[in-house]
Amino acid sequence: MELLKKLEILADAAKYDASCSSSGTTRRSSVGGRGMGSSEGSGICHAYAPDGRCISLLKILLTNFCIYECSYCINRNSSNVQRARFTTKEVVDLTLDFYKRNYIEGLFLSSGVIQSPDYTMAQLVEVARSLRVDHDFRGYIHLKTIPDAGGQLLADAGRFADRLSINIELPTQVALADLAPEKDHRTIKLSMARIRAGRDEVAEQRRQAKRITNASPRRAAAPRFAPAGQSTQMIIGAEPSTDALEQLSLRAAMCCGCPLYGPATQTVFGEGPQKARLMLVGEQPGDAEDLAGRPFVGPAGQLLDRALNAAGLDRSQLYLTNAVKHFKFEPRGKQRLHAKLDYHEVAACRPWLDAEIMRVAPDVVMALGGTAASALLERRVAVTRERGRAIAWKGRQLWVTVHPSFLLRSDATAGQSFDRFVADLRIAAAI
Ligand code: URA
Repeated sequence: MELLKKLEILADAAKYDASCSSSGTTRRSSVGGRGMGSSEGSGICHAYAPDGRCISLLKILLTNFCIYECSYCINRNSSNVQRARFTTKEVVDLTLDFYKRNYIEGLFLSSGVIQSPDYTMAQLVEVARSLRVDHDFRGYIHLKTIPDAGGQLLADAGRFADRLSINIELPTQVALADLAPEKDHRTIKLSMARIRAGRDEVAEQRRQAKRITNASPRRAAAPRFAPAGQSTQMIIGAEPSTDALEQLSLRAAMCCGCPLYGPATQTVFGEGPQKARLMLVGEQPGDAEDLAGRPFVGPAGQLLDRALNAAGLDRSQLYLTNAVKHFKFEPRGKQRLHAKLDYHEVAACRPWLDAEIMRVAPDVVMALGGTAASALLERRVAVTRERGRAIAWKGRQLWVTVHPSFLLRSDATAGQSFDRFVADLRIAAAI
């Protein structure tokens, strides 16, 4: 297939990827030598630089062949569109040619998934590598990353590209399972977290280099990682119904309202039915929760499960969450030890907890431990004083009990403490 034909197909196929802002215009064709300056056709789009400048981009897909079957995507495997595929060298040469002719100042490159996520991502990275390393290309590069591609490929992409993006695709996991069965919000969020961690790590290296050389962070010789940041896009309205809680959790996944998001693996949002009658609020995720992306799955969670069983409660009917959605820890060798939250971290996370309570609207909220109780009541709380009675709170009942990790630590009286914890849960459930 001729290069021009490929360009026509793959520039058109890229128009669903967000790289730029757009404005409406009428189409005036100049095909066949009629006039000049057509706005028809595709291939060149715009993005904004951090300083507000508008940058022109060659915006294309590497290929619109795709092994995935996302129902909302024109390039899905079963779609009857005309297909094309550039070689990596063709993309590099096109970019350089367009650049030299002053058509563009950068490249936006996305792709359908061919062979495997890693294979496809490696091809995208190779384009960026070749532009930067073989041709010393200084223009702007935006790579759309492929969900499920490995961490090393993301790291390489971040070294060569100015901006990385990854599509959330749809607002809920249910919709994703329905409409894009090969994709998963957890891996998408993990890739987003990896990009963020890469940026933070490089920012820290630059600060350290500045400290040593006394140069400004911009001039300090340190690596770069996607300096223009990361972005995302999602399709609203394709799914039959949108779960407000899941939308909220996706927004929380990108929260950087306090420094805890940096070292943590991911945001651990609450989970449970949207209309749960009982909500349990813990303190913060632990090591296991941070890795799994789910609350109460580690040792304290296992003890809580036993207590819930003993109280005759079905975990799947409750909403479980934490006052703070990121794990705060201190590294100790290979271990990550739970660290005490401070007031600012609890306050920064409070809007997420409020939003969960507003959407779930439980009849009863039970605070597990002093931190959760203080977060909810916005005052210092001594668990022993407040335990065992209903507190009228914002039109619902608030109960305070101990945190399950307290029971993990207690010794001779453990049996008794466990029974009392079960009794607290039983009372709250009976309301
Ligand atoms: N402790 C908590 O407070 N929350 C969890 O999710 C796990 C342990």
